[in-house]
Amino acid sequence: MAILEIARMGHPVLRRRAEEVADPSAPEIARLVDDMIDTLEDSGGVGLAAPQVAVPLRVVIFKVPAERASAEDDDAGVPLTVLINPVIEPLDDEMVEQFEACLSLPDLMGRVPRHQRIRYRGVRLDGTAIMVEASGFHARVVQHECDHLDGILYPMRMSDLRTFGFVEEFRKAIAAQADEASARQQPPCSEEDQAP
Ligand code: NI
Repeated sequence: MAILEIARMGHPVLRRRAEEVADPSAPEIARLVDDMIDTLEDSGGVGLAAPQVAVPLRVVIFKVPAERASAEDDDAGVPLTVLINPVIEPLDDEMVEQFEACLSLPDLMGRVPRHQRIRYRGVRLDGTAIMVEASGFHARVVQHECDHLDGILYPMRMSDLRTFGFVEEFRKAIAAQADEASARQQPPCSEEDQAP
């Protein structure tokens, strides 16, 4: 069990395609996942892909805290899930844009279009198969993490780079907007939902 260093944008491991895991139930994969869980817990994030800890294998872990699950969907919280060799299939053409952040791009965020509904398949640590239909935030987290396995970071999915910037600056701008609004005795603007 160990907290691993997180590779940041620019590291070659984040640009390459990660390899399929030949034996998901191998002890070294269990050790990798243990370390990834420690690293994720330490970071306060909601998801982590093996390339982010410089291991070019198709392994992701994620969770959906109940308070982050979108209210309009049936995606209640999801406990910590380990997904090996995942495959994603969009269930329809609907795309939704929300803010995302990434442990490999510290302090930054940006609005990213993602499929609203997906089906994902993969294998658990014990080698058994998973197949889940997900929507909203749950679907977004899985798409974000699985992109890491193909060398894709969220800015590469953005349609408008003007919405890419430092979290602190966005927070300041939102607070200033809210102050202005309350000065005019109008309801303050609500903060955008922030994704992983
Ligand atoms: Ni990420």
